[in-house]
Amino acid sequence: MGKKIDIEWSKLGFNYIKTDFRYISVWKDGKWDDGKLTEDNTLHISESSPVLHYGQSSFEGLKAYRTKEGKVQLFRPNRNAARMNDSCDKLLMPRIPEEKFVDAVKQVVKANIDYVPPYGTGATLYIRPIIMGVGDNIGVKPASEYIFTVFCMPVGPYFSGGLKPCNFVVQDEFDRAAPYGTGKQKVGGNYAASLQAHAKAAAGGYADCIYLDPATHTKIDEVGAANFIGITKNNEFVTPNSSSILPSITKYSLLYIAEHYLKMPVYEREVFVDKLDEFKEAGACGTAAVITPIGAIDYKGKRYVFHSETEVGPTIKKLYDILYGIQLGDVEAPEGWIYEVE
Ligand code: PLP
Ligand code: COI
Repeated sequence: MGKKIDIEWSKLGFNYIKTDFRYISVWKDGKWDDGKLTEDNTLHISESSPVLHYGQSSFEGLKAYRTKEGKVQLFRPNRNAARMNDSCDKLLMPRIPEEKFVDAVKQVVKANIDYVPPYGTGATLYIRPIIMGVGDNIGVKPASEYIFTVFCMPVGPYFSGGLKPCNFVVQDEFDRAAPYGTGKQKVGGNYAASLQAHAKAAAGGYADCIYLDPATHTKIDEVGAANFIGITKNNEFVTPNSSSILPSITKYSLLYIAEHYLKMPVYEREVFVDKLDEFKEAGACGTAAVITPIGAIDYKGKRYVFHSETEVGPTIKKLYDILYGIQLGDVEAPEGWIYEVE
C-alpha cells in the first residue's frame, strides 16, 4: 500500500477507470511471448485484424477482493482460464496456459494493488482478460497473431442497487445466441448481438432483458449478462440448463453452496417461462451482477413477482451472504476456490 487513490469507493458503479498497469502478451510464430506490464492503455493493431472485422475475440471477467485483514484474493481464476480456453477452441485461437493466465491476473492486481477497494465498501477490483486475433488478414480465416491482455478497475454494483431487487422483461423478439452457436462461449459477438435488446429493455425501465432459448422460445436462457437462479415454493434451487447460455462460474458456485452449505435440493433443468410462478424467489447471478434479486419479470402482459419488488427474499439473501462471504474471506471456502495475491 502506498499511493493514495482519490475514489469514493462506496459510490462506484460499473464504469471504466484507467488504473496504472495492464499486462500484454503477444502470440506470434506459434508461441506466446513472456508478456509484460505496461502503462499504455491503448493498443496499436493492424486495420486488417480479424478482431475488428470478424469478431475473433473472447473476454473474461473476474474480481479481486480485499479481506478484513487487508489481504487481496481472487475467486476461482482457474475457472476463467478454462472458460477462456474453451472460447479459444471455439474461435480457433491459441490456448493460454492456465498458469500464464493466473500469473497475468496476479501481476495486474499486484501492480494496481492500491486500486483494490477496502473491505466493507461494497466495491471490488474487476479484472478483464481479453484475447483477440490481430495481424494482417482480410479473408475470413483465423488470425496469424494474437494479443492477450489483462486490465482492471475498481467497480461497484453492475445492476443499480446491489441487493435491491431489479425488474426484468422477457423480449422474445430477440435472441442473443443460436442453439449450436457461440452462446456457451464468452465471445464479443454475443454481446454486440445483445445491445439492441438491452437498449429496448432499458428504455422500458427494466434493468435488462431476459432471453428465451433460441430453438423453442419457451424456456428461460439468460438474464442479460447473468444467469437465472430460482428458489421454488418447495425450497429447491433451480437454474436453467441450455446449450446456448454462458456457463457462469457464479452459478456453479451457487449450485455448490445451495447443496453443501444450505442443504437444498439443487437442479439444473428447463425453466419454462409460462411456469415462472413455481418460484418464490429469483435472482440474476454473475461476476459483475454477484446476485441481483429479481423483483419481477414481465412477459406477454403478465407480471411475475418474486418475493417482493423492493426487498430481497431470505434464501437469495443467504446465498448472497455465503458467496460474498467466501469471496471476502469471511466464510470458509471450499478447497481451491480462493487464490491469494498478497
Ligand atoms: N451470462 C453472461 C452472458 C455473462 O456475460 C456472464 C458474465 O460473465 C454471466 C452469465 C455470468 O458468468 P460468471 O458468473 O462466470 O461471471
Ligand atoms: C461479468 O460478469 O464478468 C461479465 O462479463 C458481465 C458483463 C459485464 C459483460
